[in-house]
Amino acid sequence: MRQATSPRSRAMSNRTHPSPLSLRTPGVDSPPGRRRKWAIAGSLVAAVGLWGCGDTPTDPGAPELARVDRGLVDDVRRLAAATGLEALNAPRRVRPKLAKLGQALVFDPELSGNRDISCMTCHWPSFGTSDGRSLPAGEGATGLGPDRVHPDGVFIPRNAPPTFNLHAQSAQFWDGRVAVDAAGRFHTPAGNKVTPEMTRVFEFGSISAQGLFPVTSRAEMRGNSGNELAAIPDTDEPAMWRAIMARLGAISEYRRLFEQAYPGTDFEDMNFGHASNAMAGFYLDAFTFVNTPWDEFLRGRDAAMTPDQLDGARAFMAVGCAECHSGAALTDVEFHNTAMPQIGPGKGDGTGGQDDFGRMRVTGDPADIYRFRTPPLRNVELTGPFGHGGPIPDLRDFIAHYSESDVKLRNYDPSVLEPALQGTVLNNADQVLANRDPILDGLVISEADIDRIRAFMSALTDPATRNLERAIPQRVPSGLPVSEGRPGNGRGNR
Ligand code: HEC
Ligand code: HEC
Repeated sequence: MRQATSPRSRAMSNRTHPSPLSLRTPGVDSPPGRRRKWAIAGSLVAAVGLWGCGDTPTDPGAPELARVDRGLVDDVRRLAAATGLEALNAPRRVRPKLAKLGQALVFDPELSGNRDISCMTCHWPSFGTSDGRSLPAGEGATGLGPDRVHPDGVFIPRNAPPTFNLHAQSAQFWDGRVAVDAAGRFHTPAGNKVTPEMTRVFEFGSISAQGLFPVTSRAEMRGNSGNELAAIPDTDEPAMWRAIMARLGAISEYRRLFEQAYPGTDFEDMNFGHASNAMAGFYLDAFTFVNTPWDEFLRGRDAAMTPDQLDGARAFMAVGCAECHSGAALTDVEFHNTAMPQIGPGKGDGTGGQDDFGRMRVTGDPADIYRFRTPPLRNVELTGPFGHGGPIPDLRDFIAHYSESDVKLRNYDPSVLEPALQGTVLNNADQVLANRDPILDGLVISEADIDRIRAFMSALTDPATRNLERAIPQRVPSGLPVSEGRPGNGRGNR
């Protein structure tokens, strides 16, 4: 994992403060500090620009627009190649019977202590596999998405991330606390309680381990009282996993689904790792979407993106977004402090316990304070509010936050939040800014570039994600409602 002073961040921190004017034309005028890094890309852009002026179109009758587009297309292709951005590939196909088991499990409230919430309550397909709100309302609440309410006003401390293309990220959660290292070892909050008997079953790396944890969280799924899971001490995760397997084993349909998903193994010999692995299989099967206009463009179809989106892609790379949102996944799967406001109950950090130290909670390294994992951005249009605490509901506002992010953080306006969260903004700007990623020092982005980048974000939406109703089963094996409190206003689902 990246250390406090990677060569890159040192290089980027050496720059002089650019004036807003110097940033007006993306790709051509990149920020001064970025010149070194983008020297090659920049000269390519310049070369294309010159060529565009000096050359006459081969077909004199061709409309002006087509000629401009050609230059833009070539520009973006060359920048993408120089920056290392690529199309995303799909993972190998998941066994249908494994995905079927996983689908039943993630939609079934049977996995929660009081049988009142499923995984998908917070990762609902028609809310972009999230819940459409800054912070989720967990167990004990009723309703779905923005209509969900908790009787005691309890919020989960972090925003629910989408579950698209999980194969593209090797570390799960905003702080990457579930991960697999290069040697294939699993790193999770449960340490060696995640046994070899469990990891042996895992087919999809860190995603297979991820599902072990929401069920152990009291606020998310387990509850504080009123059921046998809640009665288990907080440090005894294995007892929780066994108790859930006991519940599932009491339902004959589950025994059948498990044995079909893992041919040759008796249900009695299975552990919750089998369940978690199947849930991962379902996410990969149902929520892998790699046919965005951006991917199509990178695979060679020139017309896949509109001129606005192409312009935006160029700005995205020129401004430096791709420093962190890099590679095929549009994430470096590293941890950065991007000057986010802190809202909600927090993770117990800081003097009042309302702060969230992010990656430092996992590594214990003070250099990691306020660092969070770079999110992968595909389908980002559908997955707001944005950021680890969901402080910014609007996508354009989020992009704008990167421009003079110190000023933006200090002037953060909580009225964009739902009323119950407006009073929870933590006054920690000084501490956050003391460790802001140096890549953002002096970064100013013109309004026009913000608009262009916003347009590029729409090129990251796979059209197939606009309707994900087919991922929702009619029923689940426990017979519990697939979603208690589906909104009747047609906002969410079938
Ligand atoms: C109460 C809401 C809630 C429920 C229920 C819930 N999640 Fe989540 N999920 C979250 C939140 C919040 C996070 C981010 C937590 C963090 O980073 O600390 C998350 C993170 C994840 C991630 C990581 C995605 C990423 O980009 O890192 C996956 C995968 C996931 N959940 C799957 C599940 C599964 C499987 C279940 C059921 C076993 C489940 N969730 C239940 C709210 C929920
Ligand atoms: C220094 C690395 C870095 C740079 C540069 C960067 N990002 Fe990010 N981005 C992140 C991290 C880390 C987060 C999550 C921050 C958090 O929640 O604390 C994030 C979050 C986002 C999100 C919210 C996604 C979600 O699911 O909530 C969007 C959108 C985004 N970035 C777009 C951009 C754009 C556009 C640029 C260029 C203007 C950019 N980023 C530059 C690291 C970076």
